[in-house]
Amino acid sequence: MTDSTYLDGFLKGHVAFITGGGSGINLGIAKNMAAAGAKIAICGRTFSKLEAAADEIRAFGVDVFPVAADVRDLEAMEKAFLETEAALGSVSIAVAGAAGNFMCEVKDMTYNGFKTVIDIDLMGSFNTAKAAYDQLKKTKGSLLFISAGQSLDAHSHQAHVCAAKAGVDKLMQTLAIEWGPGGIRCNSIIPGPIDGTEGMKRLTTPETLPMLINAVPARRLGTVDDIGRAAVFLSSPFASYISGAVLPVDGGLTLGGSGMFNFAAQQFNAGKKSK
Ligand code: COA
Repeated sequence: MTDSTYLDGFLKGHVAFITGGGSGINLGIAKNMAAAGAKIAICGRTFSKLEAAADEIRAFGVDVFPVAADVRDLEAMEKAFLETEAALGSVSIAVAGAAGNFMCEVKDMTYNGFKTVIDIDLMGSFNTAKAAYDQLKKTKGSLLFISAGQSLDAHSHQAHVCAAKAGVDKLMQTLAIEWGPGGIRCNSIIPGPIDGTEGMKRLTTPETLPMLINAVPARRLGTVDDIGRAAVFLSSPFASYISGAVLPVDGGLTLGGSGMFNFAAQQFNAGKKSK
């Protein structure tokens, strides 16, 4: 449940465009930005899903514009940004959040399966950045990418996502260098395991979930508000000197090997106690 009181006015006067904003982490980002006073455009493939999400965001008292477009289609994204500008004003915050995922070993993955995730996650981020550029240049805005832990560490059954998200973070850092002189800041968030999301449904089972939580130093799943608040901060004037950063918001999960080491240490202590 998004608490709007402390965010009040943080992003007043801003227009945020969020891909994948119809559900999950990206809807959480949209709600937190709305709670902070920004006008919101949410973009996704299915208009009916966006309309339902838009009603939830309007509860925060801001103008909301749902716009259907597939991030894999650059022309459609350019049109979506122009329609948003006409409806809400020039975009000052763009969030490239749309992503796709499934668990599959490379030996079983088809050419098209690998390409589909590269197209959504990496090409979709490129297309969002390209389509946002003219308006972000006008507003001296912020461009935020939703990356993943797969960008930092290799994950079994996730070669497509590892390749795509590593690409997203390097794209982001290159844009931070190229577009920084024009006043545009670029950053990434690496969400940890976030409760109730499509990603968690796809990547865990009831049996593996407790093991995953045990690997998080904070010993809990994250919430969509954990990511939404970080997104508000990185897109706000409070982060005006932060660009090119990859920020894990994951309770410490991406600290190299800490999860498995802590698990081993627990077993070691349990063994000592039983002696
Ligand atoms: N295992 C192996 N291959 C799979 C797969 C799975 N579980 N799911 C899809 N694929 C393959 C398909 O077989 C197809 O390849 P093929 O043509 O060689 O058979 C290819 O991926 C594209 O699948 P398709 O369903 O046509 O793509 P889509 O564009 O409709 O959907 C996905 C894209 C596959 C990423 C889909 O899961 C999706 O839309 N996800 C969005 C939500 C999401 O994943 N959120 C979590 C983000 S962390």
